[in-house]
Amino acid sequence: MRFGHFDDKNREYVITTPKTPYPWINYLGTESFFGLVSHLGGGYCFYRDARLRRLTRYRYNNVPVDNGGRYYYVVDGSDYWSPTFMPVKRPLDRFECRHGLGYTRITGERNGVTAEVLYFVPLGETCEVHQVTLKNQSSQKKTLTLFSFVEFCLWNAWDDMTNFQRNFSTGEVEIEGSTIYHKTEYRERRNHFAFFHVNQPLLGFDTDRETFLGTYNGFGEPEVVAQGKPRNSVASGWHPIGSHAITVELEPGAEKQLVFVLGYVENPKEEKWERPGVINKRRAHQLIERFSTPEAVARAFGKLQEHWQGLLSSYQVKSPDEKLDRMVNIWNQYQCMVTFNMSRSASYFESGIGRGMGFRDSNQDLLGFVHLVPERARERILDIAATQCPDGSAYHQYQPLTKRGNHDIGSGFNDDPLWLILGVAAYIKETGDVAILDENVPFDNDPNDTATLLEHCKRSFDHVLNNLGPHGLPLIGRADWNDCLNLNCFSETPDESYQTTQNRTGRTAESVFIAGMFVHIGPEYAALCERKGLAEEAARARAEVAKMEKVVLEHGWDGAWFLRAYDFFGNKVGSNECEDGKIFIEPQGFCVMAGIGVKTGEAVKALDSVKERLDTRYGIVLQNPAYKEYHVELGEISSYPPGYKENAGIFCHNNPWVAIAETVVGRPERAFEYYKKIAPAYLEEISEIHRLEPYVYAQMIAGKDAVRHGEAKNSWLTGTAAWNFVAVSQYLLGVRPEWDGLVVKPCLPKEFGEFTVERRCRGATYVIHVKNSGGTTPSLKVDGKPIPGHVVPYQPAGSRVVVECTT
Ligand code: GLC
Ligand code: GLC
Repeated sequence: MRFGHFDDKNREYVITTPKTPYPWINYLGTESFFGLVSHLGGGYCFYRDARLRRLTRYRYNNVPVDNGGRYYYVVDGSDYWSPTFMPVKRPLDRFECRHGLGYTRITGERNGVTAEVLYFVPLGETCEVHQVTLKNQSSQKKTLTLFSFVEFCLWNAWDDMTNFQRNFSTGEVEIEGSTIYHKTEYRERRNHFAFFHVNQPLLGFDTDRETFLGTYNGFGEPEVVAQGKPRNSVASGWHPIGSHAITVELEPGAEKQLVFVLGYVENPKEEKWERPGVINKRRAHQLIERFSTPEAVARAFGKLQEHWQGLLSSYQVKSPDEKLDRMVNIWNQYQCMVTFNMSRSASYFESGIGRGMGFRDSNQDLLGFVHLVPERARERILDIAATQCPDGSAYHQYQPLTKRGNHDIGSGFNDDPLWLILGVAAYIKETGDVAILDENVPFDNDPNDTATLLEHCKRSFDHVLNNLGPHGLPLIGRADWNDCLNLNCFSETPDESYQTTQNRTGRTAESVFIAGMFVHIGPEYAALCERKGLAEEAARARAEVAKMEKVVLEHGWDGAWFLRAYDFFGNKVGSNECEDGKIFIEPQGFCVMAGIGVKTGEAVKALDSVKERLDTRYGIVLQNPAYKEYHVELGEISSYPPGYKENAGIFCHNNPWVAIAETVVGRPERAFEYYKKIAPAYLEEISEIHRLEPYVYAQMIAGKDAVRHGEAKNSWLTGTAAWNFVAVSQYLLGVRPEWDGLVVKPCLPKEFGEFTVERRCRGATYVIHVKNSGGTTPSLKVDGKPIPGHVVPYQPAGSRVVVECTT
């Protein structure tokens, strides 16, 4: 069952009913000011850091689920309603929400009045614009009152939700004309404030929540709105809000546009005050001025659309499969931008107060983002590398405002260092910017301890070699990619975090997955060395990789698939000998991507075991059988009920590893089948089962052992976005930047048909037409001339190259 449809031409998903199975959200902002907005107008916004600079309040885990946002109320005679359906929930004659790239447009209609709200963050600005268009479709003149509403968060979202003894006394506002200023804590250490403005004279305003709503009312029944009269309340402590009241008279057929701006301003310390106690509003006035008319809004909106048009044009496909096209051309790339910006901080499942930027996560996010804005990828790589420790290990997370490693979580996730090499390699392949390897980057942000980025990569590589276990496999540390496989943790105490609690010291627990990573990513390190003329170091690296490959086949092979790990006691994890958790997805995907056992047959066997034991209707589960009870020696993985999350959920993040692995062994049908199983556009028709947005990936879909098999959770912020973009764009459609050229090597079933990819890389444009007959060793012609192999040499910036590929 569907709850809307794709509008590919406008790059929008159009939701046609307020009653989707769960709030379906979108993101506003691409640089420093961000907002989350649901199809019901729910959500919040923040400047840079979702925890420390939150402008508006949002209550997670609330009842009903999506309560609180930027709301508008239309008062029409004795009736009042919200165009976003929430919070008033008055039935609408028509409802439509269009989620587009960086904007959301929600339209409601009732009794002959249409109200449309367009929400977006203009490029380069620290504000949200809400443009409200009211239209009288009836045959009578209408005199309406429009009320706006936002509830301010007292900046630090964690403190705001917990420290009431203080916070109920600190709230402060100023009102000037049609602008409401939120200045809590500005009197002391903050030099930033928020404002909410409308480009119209006011009938009145309210800034005190209790006055506006009435103490015992919810957002859906504000007293002020019910009475149609603002009270000009001035908040003092308690809960500052911003609400404007505006009278709008509309002749039949007439419409009016109002521009609301919700902004964030920082003042230098010396310029904080205009006079004692009154904030200096100069910068706010300037910002307001820039959006004072609908024409200015239209220009800014046009720029945003051009911006996205430009970004997405670096990879476009035209194929007979419209679902694949809309994922590749629009939504998957868009989600990659969002994950790059947010890491795992703020979604409807991530509260914005918990997780900083993950070392592992952010490196992987780069893989799907680097072609969009390579300069930002460069900056991100240097930030991430600066949180690496001198011994090559890495802080598991860092805070976006300070860019410092997060001490609460620390390090010890032994897969982390290797992801840095993968991110750096992807960046250089995309851009050719080998010079990044010479950048001086501190360890642990210490300016007195720096080394080149290449040296950072070396320390990553060596960190694995310096931490090998009894079988010569890498030690797992706290965990590897699977945060929940905690083999040294032994936690028996409720409330203890599996990720941060004191671990046993042991040098036994080993990860076959990290070994697979090492074999896959190690050659990238060798290639980096070669770029720098370090032949000997490259040879050393390749020799270590070859050694590890042998070790995997000797100690990491279980007969029909790759083992997952050895535990603290040296027992096998992910083996046929185990009662539960006999086979895990991660090492099958990564070892085969690395090429282990491709020549000797283990690779195909492993993938066949995946098909037989892990594949389901809705995707590949993480392991099987699910753990039925808690295993203290395995940790969090066995804490989840069977079928959810890491305990045999369909963890979408690693499904594309298997899809890529299938292309490595040359099986296009399987690869494409796995791709389609979890790609959201293909799930649109089962939205009542899947429940989350049909335009973006979710982290997890409940596995076959779960009560709610097929139901997704944790949409938006997941490595799934980047990895699926890599799988489909680089391995199925088969166009990927390598060191010396663009590889063109599609792997799709014959029935898929012919297709064309347009790929911009290093300033040149490659138009690649693929005559596909399902083969996996294509022949290529470049500008009409046949070339050997699958690599189209890079062409000078500005050129347009035509590639014909026959498979
Ligand atoms: C979460 C984490 C990611 C981890 C995965 C598996 O998605 O963000 O870092 O790899 O879970 O545990
Ligand atoms: C939990 C989740 C896992 C996530 C981790 C982050 O363990 O199951 O997916 O990566 O928390 O700390």
